[in-house]
Amino acid sequence: MSGKPAYQVVEESRPSGSYRGAVVGCGRMGSAIDDEHVGMPHYPWPWAHAPAMMEASGVELVAGVDLDRSKLEEFRGRWGVNALYTDFREMVEREKPDIVSVTTRPEERPDVVIGLAEAGVKAIFATKPLCRSLAEADAMIDACRRSGAILSVACHLNWYAPYTSARELIGRGDIGPLRSMVCNTPMALSNIGSHTLALLRLFAGAPAQWVFGHVDDDEAAVGDGDLSGSGYVFYQNGVRAMLNSRSPSGTWSIEFLCERGRIISRHHHAEFDLWTLDEPSGDTSIRYESRRMFPYPWRPRSSMVDAIEGVARSIEAGREEICPGEFGREALETAIALRESHRQGGRRIDLPLADRALTLGGAANSSR
Ligand SMILES: NC(=O)c1ccc[n+]([C@@H]2O[C@H](COP(=O)([O-])OP(=O)(O)OC[C@H]3O[C@@H](n4cnc5c(N)ncnc54)[C@H](O)[C@@H]3O)[C@@H](O)[C@H]2O)c1
Repeated sequence: MSGKPAYQVVEESRPSGSYRGAVVGCGRMGSAIDDEHVGMPHYPWPWAHAPAMMEASGVELVAGVDLDRSKLEEFRGRWGVNALYTDFREMVEREKPDIVSVTTRPEERPDVVIGLAEAGVKAIFATKPLCRSLAEADAMIDACRRSGAILSVACHLNWYAPYTSARELIGRGDIGPLRSMVCNTPMALSNIGSHTLALLRLFAGAPAQWVFGHVDDDEAAVGDGDLSGSGYVFYQNGVRAMLNSRSPSGTWSIEFLCERGRIISRHHHAEFDLWTLDEPSGDTSIRYESRRMFPYPWRPRSSMVDAIEGVARSIEAGREEICPGEFGREALETAIALRESHRQGGRRIDLPLADRALTLGGAANSSR
């Protein structure tokens, strides 16, 4: 635990300025997805960007944009926002938002993100997967760099408080340095895999260096659609990640293995375990582990609310560190490299990939 008094924790999470927020793409993720989660024993909502902006301290939701007018009317009805547009450039011109969520589909994201950067928006909070091709990811990151816009990828687990507690625990050295990470889920490598790979990148603390992979379906590996698969990711600092898709349908757990203990998140991040290594007893080399109380955050909150406050604080800091555009690009690049490895008979694939035209995305086996 941080040991800080409560008022200080609240004070530090809140951005110091006030920000105008807008959502481009008023569909499920932009507005309505929480209707699907009522009663689910999962992690705290809201997940949708509009209600999360309304709940975030220091951020006011001022506008919505969608090409579909019926979505805009629904948005007005849900959130009481009357500044509604079908053209995001006109919205920026008139509403002057500081933070814009981009919750369109991946194929529509590059044009919107580049357009927002060119229009001078301070921070762009783009949902996952960042896009479909490496060239598009490069162009989005370059456009934001040129304009000075913060590009944050809304892989919101990176801001989810139990994972922050886990990183703090590892950072303090309580269970020794991180050695490897194992993720068990059969879900698609780019769609849900973006969340996993962005989180693993944050924990690893270094970029991925090379991978080898084996996807689940030879036919799918030939095309560019999203697909599930297993693989091994080697990070530049020697941390390794193993992705195991041979796990029961709909499951998702992640294990962080350190030198003297491990943290396991289960049931789609609903539950966390902490195990520490016991001292050796007798003359056997076998060591046992004991289960301890995981240091759950005393202030459980929606990861999306924390993320949006985090993006506001990133404007103040002048940089994004929890999930920058580069993490979104690396997630896509790693997933593509795992598929390339499969295509080449399991060969090791070094990153970055030279062929920036490589693409992954489209029909996914899950829409979350
Ligand atoms: N937990 C999560 O992080 C999570 C969960 C669900 C979906 N998502 C992601 O959110 C994205 C959107 O998925 P969805 O299910 O909400 O899709 P959706 O179709 O419900 O919403 C997308 C909306 O964007 C609008 N749109 C498209 N182009 C536009 C443009 N140029 N300007 C303005 N509006 C535009 C569409 O009309 C549509 O209403 C996907 O990338 C998906 O992977 C993330």
